[in-house]
Amino acid sequence: MTRIAVLGAGKVGEALLAGLLSSGRSADDLMFTERYPERAAQLTEQYGVSSVGVAEAAKRADVLVVAVKPQDIDPLLVELNELITTRTLVVSMCAGLPTQLYERCLPAGVPVVRVMPNTPMLVGEAMSAVSAGTHATEEHLTLVEEMLGSVGKVVKLPEAQQDAVTALSGSGPAYFFYLVEAMIDAGILLGLPRAVAEQLIIQSAVGASTMLARTGQHPVTLREAVTSPGGTTINAIRELEKHGVRAALLAAIEAARDRSVELGKAHEED
Ligand SMILES: NC(=O)c1ccc[n+]([C@@H]2O[C@H](COP(=O)([O-])OP(=O)(O)OC[C@H]3O[C@@H](n4cnc5c(N)ncnc54)[C@H](OP(=O)(O)O)[C@@H]3O)[C@@H](O)[C@H]2O)c1
Repeated sequence: MTRIAVLGAGKVGEALLAGLLSSGRSADDLMFTERYPERAAQLTEQYGVSSVGVAEAAKRADVLVVAVKPQDIDPLLVELNELITTRTLVVSMCAGLPTQLYERCLPAGVPVVRVMPNTPMLVGEAMSAVSAGTHATEEHLTLVEEMLGSVGKVVKLPEAQQDAVTALSGSGPAYFFYLVEAMIDAGILLGLPRAVAEQLIIQSAVGASTMLARTGQHPVTLREAVTSPGGTTINAIRELEKHGVRAALLAAIEAARDRSVELGKAHEED
């Protein structure tokens, strides 16, 4: 069994650990590193997975999953450079960081796979995109696809598309949460109790996403089916169009893509 160490057990690192465990992986094959002892203790208690130092993770694990914030990567790479060999597969989940950064800072020939996951990993519904670095083989990609396939869906893409993926599905759940939050506010505005508004909107979101996933029908077809002539929905759609909601989404996702590019540039060689 492949031993996996998650470096940086924050939101994404925890979601991966939780997802891997619920897909049947043994806690004995997993480990994590975490800077705060209280958080480490809480995660070990909750998941039964050991907290280790970076040196021990590098020694014991076959796969190191890097899940620290992009701005924390430099000291970690300096540390790892002394500890790993080409036998270790490095999987980066950091937004915007190119595989080339790892290849430059780690021992020559270390295989690196770049992944952009998202937080629904916590419930086994992640959308992850994987891209191979220069030294990653098909077997490495297959291993990462299998690992992430146990916590959601996976696509394989050229690395040049990762900034777009980061903006679209990496940050994507946040846009849906934002929409749900705004719709709950609308319920409050219309005088519904908060708990009722929440129930109505959350179940509508679950229902709509299940229809999208299960029917295979285009979102336009599904929306048209609830937009009857002279009805209530078309009045709402007119307001959404009037307020430029579609254009706002396009601009927002483009801004997220630009930030991902910027994060990568900050680590380009001088
Ligand atoms: N959140 C998302 O939806 C999402 C989606 C896709 C990808 N990502 C990527 O996933 C990565 C993690 O994001 P996140 O939201 O999970 O961030 P986060 O909650 O801040 O988690 C990062 C964790 O790494 C720890 N850390 C930093 N340096 C470390 C080191 N040298 N050794 C051990 N632990 C270290 C941090 O500790 P401290 O608390 O001490 O800083 C923190 O617990 C980011 O690179 C992000 O771009 C995030």
